[in-house]
Amino acid sequence: MSTWIERESNVYMRAGGRRLKATIVRGAGARVWDDAGKEYLDFIGGWAVTNLGHCHPAITQAIVQQAQTLLTTSNDLYTIPQVELAELLIQQSCLDRIFFANSGAEANEGAVKLVRKWGKINRNGAYEIITALHSFHGRTLSMVPATGKPEGRAPYEPVPAGFVNVEFDDIAAIKGATTAQTVAVMLEPVQGEGGVNIPSDDYLRQVRAWCDQQGLLLILDEVQTGFGRLGTLFGYQQFGVEPDVMTLAKGLGGGVPIAALMAKEHAAVFQPGDHGSTFGGNPLVCAAALASTRYMVEHNIPQHARKVGDYFLGQLRRLEDTYDIVKEVRGRGMLLALEFQENCAMEVVTNCLQKGLILNPVADNAIRFMPPLIVTEAEVDEAVGILDAALKDKTA
Ligand SMILES: Cc1ncc(COP(=O)(O)O)c(C=O)c1O
Repeated sequence: MSTWIERESNVYMRAGGRRLKATIVRGAGARVWDDAGKEYLDFIGGWAVTNLGHCHPAITQAIVQQAQTLLTTSNDLYTIPQVELAELLIQQSCLDRIFFANSGAEANEGAVKLVRKWGKINRNGAYEIITALHSFHGRTLSMVPATGKPEGRAPYEPVPAGFVNVEFDDIAAIKGATTAQTVAVMLEPVQGEGGVNIPSDDYLRQVRAWCDQQGLLLILDEVQTGFGRLGTLFGYQQFGVEPDVMTLAKGLGGGVPIAALMAKEHAAVFQPGDHGSTFGGNPLVCAAALASTRYMVEHNIPQHARKVGDYFLGQLRRLEDTYDIVKEVRGRGMLLALEFQENCAMEVVTNCLQKGLILNPVADNAIRFMPPLIVTEAEVDEAVGILDAALKDKTA
């Protein structure tokens, strides 16, 4: 009898390159179990998705109730969960209008369409968007050039035009790249997939000021930083700026596929027929996202993430002090990284997996931590203990 991993290898496209050899069958809180019953602490958190933990009862109950009531309708009709979720997100953020999509990349595609239309109306057809090197905005065709990884583009050429990548955390680079064709700057407040890169405190304020001075829109991709990940509900709240356009996904639904494109009134130039989605914002995913976001706000989960995240960072710094192989530890809230002096991330992650801890090798030389935001200090101690043991093995 072949294993699930062998069966998968016969049929699934080799697109993502699954590196962690475990088949997960169940999850609760910060833990998951594999098909052999082995328990793991999940510090990838469904890739920064399960912010309230796996199968949080507030979310699962909302899903069950909604599934028994109404799964979907056409978006030509109105549904109550969608309106309620839209109202809550508008109330909790600085944005005025919202559109629901299904994934982060799709929300970003919507943002590109929106600002291009805005550029047609307000900036003589300007369409170019400045993004950052080492950014990540998704895998769809126009998110390939939006993402700041030029070396990954060749197989998909020709990719859509209209994106310029500049150094992150470098306001002069944005100023230098701005032309009459520029319509917007699109950034992650903290770069996640790029290795947890935190900008200088005043970088986003300087970008905001430049956008205001030049008449450009500021798009913040909060797909990874949104929903408490950095210790506030939205990442922009940490940096003293407000975006004109913001995209959300991942933690929004707590585990179901839902994304959002939000805009201030002045940027919300779509008219009926300009954009749409069959599944986007259907009652099932909106009910899940409503339950998750309500719980997060009512229980001030971002504050918990900040507190336990600071504790976690302190514990990782202890490892940095102990092991010469650790070059740097960095992060904010519950988005943390540990960088090595050498390319040993996969080796350490594989050892941690065997010891019952799931981690993300975000680069050849770095590990990223994105646990559920409800993780406790005791669970952090357990995870750091496993990592400590793996580092001991590595340096023995
Ligand atoms: C900042 C950011 N934007 C966009 C995306 C793409 O989201 P999705 O995988 O839901 O398309 C990701 C995914 O990691 C992300 O981190």
